[in-house]
Amino acid sequence: MLQVTDQDLTSFNTLGLRSHARAFVRCESADQAPALSDLADHYQNVFVLGGGSNVVLAPELDCLVIKVETSGVRLLSETDDAWIVEAQAGERWHDFVEYCITQGWNGLENLALIPGTVGAAPVQNIGAYGVELDQRFHGLTAWDMRDRRLVDMSVQDCGFSYRNSVFKQAEPGRWLILQVRFRLPKAWRPVLDYPDLQRHAVLQAAGDRVTARQIFDAVCEIRQSKLPDPAVLGNAGSFFKNPVVSAAVYERLRKEHPDLVAYRQPDGSFKLAAGWMIDRAGWKGRHMGAAGVHERQALVLINGGGANANDIAALADMIRADILARFGVQLEQEPVTVA
Ligand code: EPU
Repeated sequence: MLQVTDQDLTSFNTLGLRSHARAFVRCESADQAPALSDLADHYQNVFVLGGGSNVVLAPELDCLVIKVETSGVRLLSETDDAWIVEAQAGERWHDFVEYCITQGWNGLENLALIPGTVGAAPVQNIGAYGVELDQRFHGLTAWDMRDRRLVDMSVQDCGFSYRNSVFKQAEPGRWLILQVRFRLPKAWRPVLDYPDLQRHAVLQAAGDRVTARQIFDAVCEIRQSKLPDPAVLGNAGSFFKNPVVSAAVYERLRKEHPDLVAYRQPDGSFKLAAGWMIDRAGWKGRHMGAAGVHERQALVLINGGGANANDIAALADMIRADILARFGVQLEQEPVTVA
């Protein structure tokens, strides 16, 4: 039986923004999906909440908020060359990654310690340290809230790109992601291209004998040294995407800023390190009211205590305007704003 209540969401979003939902329901089993569709008919919009680690929640939400709390991980199948592992959407992403490593199902180690749930991971196509979710993704099962049916979606159906997917872009609230499947090749190859990993002493010393566990540990250590723990300091990870610009724009910027940090993309464009630009513009460690810029990672906005979505939006707008004026580059927000 589904129970709709009102709910304070302050502790359900990692930014810790003060937010209140008028209608809140927990989804504890995938079987509840049809009943959730019936319920959703009474509301104008639906918002599916996972770990709340990539959202900016308005102070008052009128939509139906569905919090996914399902659990379970299983080895779905094993072929000669891969393991197919399936996790329920409500599983904590990091715990799932660690469990896979413990089982010897390697391949997700670069994505260690990313906050949030398994079901939220495909929404923004999470990525870190040289690996993006779509590279390990096998498929998912979602409940289509509009057409009231279960759908299996392949990597193509999900329309993944850099921190984006059909779930984030088109018709938010339509898909209730229930299970996500990963294809983890048995012929494991470490991904160590990211500068922070190349510099890491343990990984350097291990050389060709490096293990997935060592990479997992290194990624945890690097993230802990740079990124604030949401349990201690409210944040939603990177607040802006790293903008992708043409080679011509990159060349112009590099002439003006020889130490600009940028990564060449396979199609010849360049991904600029937004954190470097925001840092260079002098924002690191600055506060505006209750919102601030983290002192070690300028791409991370923080809640200094008691902030709401308007405080964060005001600071983000000022940063965006400043980066546009200084570098001629438009920053795009990464977390989803829920109003
Ligand atoms: N930098 C600065 N000053 C800063 C921050 C960064 O100079 O204040 C420079 C760094 O020195 C480095 C470059 O900018 O040369 C890139 O910084 P970093 O390696 O910390 O990564 P990022 O580009 O800021 C991205 C992802 C992170 C992911 C890391 C590691 C995006 C929007 N962010 O951050 O993802 O963990 O790379 O792969 O793509 C997230 O999406 O929430 C997230 C944390």
